[in-house]
Amino acid sequence: MIPLTERQLVQLGEDLGRRLPVGAVVWLEGELGAGKTTLVQAIVGGRGGPGAEVRSPTYTLVHRYDGPFGQIAHVDCYRFATPDEGAEIDWADLAAGDLMLVEWPTLGGHWVPSPNLRILLKHTAAGDLREVVLSGGPLPDLISGGPTGVRDA
Ligand SMILES: Nc1ncnc2c1ncn2[C@@H]1O[C@H](COP(=O)(O)OP(=O)(O)OP(=O)(O)O)[C@@H](O)[C@H]1O
Ligand SMILES: [Mg+2]
Repeated sequence: MIPLTERQLVQLGEDLGRRLPVGAVVWLEGELGAGKTTLVQAIVGGRGGPGAEVRSPTYTLVHRYDGPFGQIAHVDCYRFATPDEGAEIDWADLAAGDLMLVEWPTLGGHWVPSPNLRILLKHTAAGDLREVVLSGGPLPDLISGGPTGVRDA
């Protein structure tokens, strides 16, 4: 995919928020400052939830947002001192909600459910552009060329 501006990345996130099926688990990967939380804000907003309220969880391991299709969970495993901290999260409760959006999923070890969609964000030589790599099953097809897809952005 061609590198995206922040505005385009937000459009991609909003589009995903509208299209992801209920129950989807999304992994967001990439270095510090790559844009994972920015994308979570856009997904939650596009879903009809309080996107502007989205912050990385700091004092808690999980943030929960109420959306029109149920609870949207936002986990950031970067806060885990060790993967064992995953034991403190009620994963079954999160899985019963609408979406589960997980930053730094590999730092959560085996606690983190398998993804339906993986999004890898990469810095590029052009500082404010981000490369976006989608993988993880049939879901990426959802965003290729739909009426609100990023291609026309
Ligand atoms: N094309 C772009 N896409 C996304 N963010 C961008 C882009 N260009 C610049 N930015 C900026 O990069 C920063 C991304 O921060 P963000 O908190 O979303 O990253 P993160 O991947 O969640 O980092 P962390 O690993 O620390 O949680 C924001 O300040 C945002 O404004
Ligand atoms: Mg973040």
